[in-house]
Amino acid sequence: MSARTLLAALLLVLSCWSVASVGFGQERDEKALREYYDLQEGRRLYEQYCRFCHGEQGKGKAYDQVTPPPADLTTSAVQGKSDAELANIIHEGEPGSPMGAWKWALSESDKQNVLLYIRSLAR
Ligand code: HEC
Repeated sequence: MSARTLLAALLLVLSCWSVASVGFGQERDEKALREYYDLQEGRRLYEQYCRFCHGEQGKGKAYDQVTPPPADLTTSAVQGKSDAELANIIHEGEPGSPMGAWKWALSESDKQNVLLYIRSLAR
């Protein structure tokens, strides 16, 4: 193989590689953007439905006229639960407590977005 062929081959490989990495970068940006909007939507829903009891930062005790008091959503007791568990609590509520079921108000994707927002409160 001559040096020229080798160089041409190298350039070909390099250009394919850079095209591919630009493609990946774009995909990553779109994903980040989508997550950003989901998070904003989660915040909006949280403020509309949950803040009254759980407080602006999710620290609970915003509305302390109920027993048990609203959970502090930033604690490890809550954050340690899996996404599936929390999503279930949000949709079904906690029987016998003031934490009601939200499946009437929140769609499946609303619920995921609120969950995303709750996760962000702990950070
Ligand atoms: C009427 C007040 C009230 C509202 C409104 C409310 N919650 Fe709650 N929530 C509670 C109370 C009280 C508890 C604690 C229940 C318990 O300790 O058994 C709780 C518990 C929770 C928990 C479970 C914590 C755990 O570890 O068991 C999650 C998650 C939660 N709420 C999320 C939400 C979300 C999301 C919304 C809005 C869609 C919301 N809550 C709206 C009162 C409320």
